[in-house]
Amino acid sequence: MKLLVVNGPNLNLTGLREPQIYGSDTLETINAELKKEFPDVSFEFFQTNSEGMLIDKIQAVQGEASDGVILNAGALSHYSYALRDAIDAIKKPVVEVHLSQVFSREEFRRTSVISEVCKGTVTGFGKYSYFAAAFALARLIKK
Ligand code: DQA
Repeated sequence: MKLLVVNGPNLNLTGLREPQIYGSDTLETINAELKKEFPDVSFEFFQTNSEGMLIDKIQAVQGEASDGVILNAGALSHYSYALRDAIDAIKKPVVEVHLSQVFSREEFRRTSVISEVCKGTVTGFGKYSYFAAAFALARLIKK
C-alpha cells in the first residue's frame, strides 16, 4: 500500500516553532517514525509552503501513484476553497490531520473548509495524529 503524506505551509518548522503547541519533533523525525511503525506501507513524503504546489501534488494522486493521502494543510485548512476543490476532485481517500487540538485554540482554527471532502479528521494528538491516520487508512484500504 502506498500512502502520500503531505504537509503544507510552515510545517517545515515543526519542532522549532511553538514546541509547546506542535511538539519538539521535526517533520523528518516524524516521517522516519511513521516508516518504522508501518513497515508494510510505502510512504512518500512531501512538504511545501506554496498553496499551488500543494494543489498540484493532490491532483497528481490519481492512478497508481498513491492509495491514500494523509494531509496536514496547516492554515490552508481553514480557508482554502481551492484546496477543498482539489481534494474533492480526486478519487483517493484523504485524511485531514492536525498536530494541535484546533478546537481548543483561536476561533478561526475551528473552521475547516476541507473536512467535508476528507474521509476523516484527526486533530490534537501531536505526531500521533499522523500515526492514527496511517492506521485507519491501512485498515480501510487493505492492500
Ligand atoms: C496545524 C493547525 C493550523 O491551525 C495551523 O495553521 C498549522 C498547523 C496543526 O497541525 O496543528 O500550521 O495544522
